[in-house]
Amino acid sequence: MSKKYSMPRIGDKAPNFKAQTTKGPIELENFAKDKWIVLFSHPADFTPVCTTEMTGFATRKPEFDALNTELLGLSIDSIHSHLAWVNNVREKTGVYFDFPIIADLDMKVSKKYGMLQPNEHETAAVRAVFFIDPTKKIRLVMYYPLNVGRNMDEIIRVLEGLQISDEFKVALPLNWKKGDKVIVPPPANLDEMNERISNDSYVDKVDFYLMKKSI
Ligand code: BEZ
Repeated sequence: MSKKYSMPRIGDKAPNFKAQTTKGPIELENFAKDKWIVLFSHPADFTPVCTTEMTGFATRKPEFDALNTELLGLSIDSIHSHLAWVNNVREKTGVYFDFPIIADLDMKVSKKYGMLQPNEHETAAVRAVFFIDPTKKIRLVMYYPLNVGRNMDEIIRVLEGLQISDEFKVALPLNWKKGDKVIVPPPANLDEMNERISNDSYVDKVDFYLMKKSI
């Protein structure tokens, strides 16, 4: 039987950790209290899929900045390996991974976050993404296997979705993207039901429990 490690779930407090990164030592609890964090793991430095993904995070970093979000990478590699890879990618492609990457050689963070999934690989982290809100609560989790790269548009879409759903207290339909209409939350009582029926500003009304509005 293979080892099982904990997997934090949506709604859980993000497990705290201290770690060495390419930008120096960090502790999750000490990240700014008003920032979102996208914590993501990759299986190994100097591998092709990981290089495309990290390049995606680096080139789209201005969009994460605009969404008030810190990027935090991780793999079970040494700081020396991370530094050599960051420098190599910069030399070969001009892209600079200008965000901290955790050197999780003792696998402490990987195990806390269920990034080590031994039936996929005993010693390399899977491709995980944790969306952590400013209260340090986990709001969305993605796990991808070693051989399938993630989709940066989807990572940014769900981050925007989480922030918009918090701000406007709405839900988001299938394939929602920024600028689309949002779902008016279903009513919780008769007054809310009657308001939804009579309010002509709501659109795409199917019935009192399914309608949309612009924000
Ligand atoms: C890659 O990033 O290309 C990769 C890493 C580990 C296993 C398979 C692929």
